Amino acid sequence: MKGVVLITGASSGIGRSIAEYLSEKKFKVYGTCRNPKKYVVSSFDLLKCDITNNKSIIETLEYILLKEDKIDILINNVGVGVSGPIEETTQKDILEAFRINCFGPIEITKKCIPHMRHQKKGLIINITSVLGYFGNSYRGIYSATKSSMEMIGETLSMELKKFNIKVVNVAPGDFKTDIITRRIYTSIDKESVYYDDYQKSLNKADTHVNNASSPEMIAKLIFKIIMSKNPKIHYTVGKFIQKFSIVLKKILPQRLFEKLLMNYS
Ligand SMILES: NC(=O)c1ccc[n+]([C@@H]2O[C@H](COP(=O)([O-])OP(=O)(O)OC[C@H]3O[C@@H](n4cnc5c(N)ncnc54)[C@H](OP(=O)(O)O)[C@@H]3O)[C@@H](O)[C@H]2O)c1
Repeated sequence: MKGVVLITGASSGIGRSIAEYLSEKKFKVYGTCRNPKKYVVSSFDLLKCDITNNKSIIETLEYILLKEDKIDILINNVGVGVSGPIEETTQKDILEAFRINCFGPIEITKKCIPHMRHQKKGLIINITSVLGYFGNSYRGIYSATKSSMEMIGETLSMELKKFNIKVVNVAPGDFKTDIITRRIYTSIDKESVYYDDYQKSLNKADTHVNNASSPEMIAKLIFKIIMSKNPKIHYTVGKFIQKFSIVLKKILPQRLFEKLLMNYS
């Protein structure tokens, strides 16, 4: 056994793919989701953990620590898509998005750190998004949750360096997963000034996800990061154009970048 890995949100998509891949590579993997009984998994242990509930986070960590006495790697993968014009997105939905994509991952990270510090080593990987690097119409709240996690990752990387705990952000472009089915979706009135534009944009976003690659590419990258002695702080993974958009934002005049992005998405 190469080490104990905890992956949040491992019942489907990217988390599941990473969990299965790392199990194959002889890691002891614990994945989490809200209702493990719904899923059939064989290669790793799928535990119940609602990331928005502190008690649930504590119980999950206690269970793993009782069994293994350590957590070597935490992969903060849990997350949901969020769509809607900002003006029409309810505060309830905004808070829920931040609870799942940000506040919960921060809490589970805080609770893993003392154990990693005690072990004198650890690795924390945040699955963010290329959308964490720029705002985009009708995905502003999602972008905000993901860029927040990018900043948390950068900060923790510095704060935890002296304890030999490494922190890495992995920002994927679109991948074919079940993300559309769990999306926090703002449904808007046909009379809304945003209606046509929003529908078009949603259709494009869904097409990008449905036509994207399987998340195995991310699982392979995560394995490479784990095996690397000195991983980078930031990684991007996915279609060239989606990864390159981050570079384009840096080098193009801002209004030109905005125009290109509005045409693409
Ligand atoms: N797919 C993409 O194109 C893409 C692109 C960039 C970044 N990402 C990021 O990659 C991560 C994984 O997304 P995915 O595409 O694999 O989505 P997915 O297939 O919908 O998987 C999401 C996972 O999160 C879990 N989850 C959702 N809400 C939860 C909660 N409150 N408590 C505990 N678990 C919860 C789900 O479990 P249950 O519903 O079974 O509880 C599921 O295991 C997310 O952070 C996402 O933002 C995805």
